[in-house]
Amino acid sequence: MAHIVLCSGASVALYKACDLASKLAQSGHEVRAVLTPRAARLVSPQLFEAVTGQPAAVDEYGPERRGAMDHIELATWAELLLVAPASAGLLSRLALGLADDLASTVALALPAGRPRLIAPAMNPHMLASPPIARNLATLRGDGWRVIEPGSGHMACGVDGKGRLPEPQELVRAVAEALAGR
Ligand SMILES: Cc1cc2nc3c(=O)[nH]c(=O)nc-3n(C[C@H](O)[C@H](O)[C@H](O)COP(=O)(O)O)c2cc1C
Repeated sequence: MAHIVLCSGASVALYKACDLASKLAQSGHEVRAVLTPRAARLVSPQLFEAVTGQPAAVDEYGPERRGAMDHIELATWAELLLVAPASAGLLSRLALGLADDLASTVALALPAGRPRLIAPAMNPHMLASPPIARNLATLRGDGWRVIEPGSGHMACGVDGKGRLPEPQELVRAVAEALAGR
């Protein structure tokens, strides 16, 4: 069983991320959620705390901080980093190395060799756009395991590729990554 940091971006698929966090915790992992500030406007970090039994974080400044440098503490604690759902914005920041919120800073501070998985979720046109295709290729080259989005009917009303895989599938991907360490 592992220490897992789950970073979630501001996607409609956040509703699945709560279930994912719950299933990972039920599998015996210790899960700490990190939400981007916009993700935290869509769903409360408190919900992630309730299903994981661990503190969830959004910001490492001011009264919200947990320690002196939460990004280092979380990145050091993590035995595996899972970014799900990865919004277009969050995955692009990760590809560029932009450390402008706690989630992207934790990812950048993750020690080399620790498994890092990313599950994009977005509208099919966004997923197929040249910048996102480029950024996903960059992430693969940087050692990220990109979990392919599913196809089907999207919340935005169109059919296509871009759905966050079901939580059970993501739990399996985590187990495989941990087994292959
Ligand atoms: C209700 C709602 C759902 C959204 N779903 C998605 C999504 O699934 N994927 C995505 O890339 N952006 C989505 N967006 C747009 C992002 O929230 C927006 O690009 C935001 O700046 C991303 O923030 P982040 O980088 O912190 O994730 C959604 C926005 C709203 C208001």
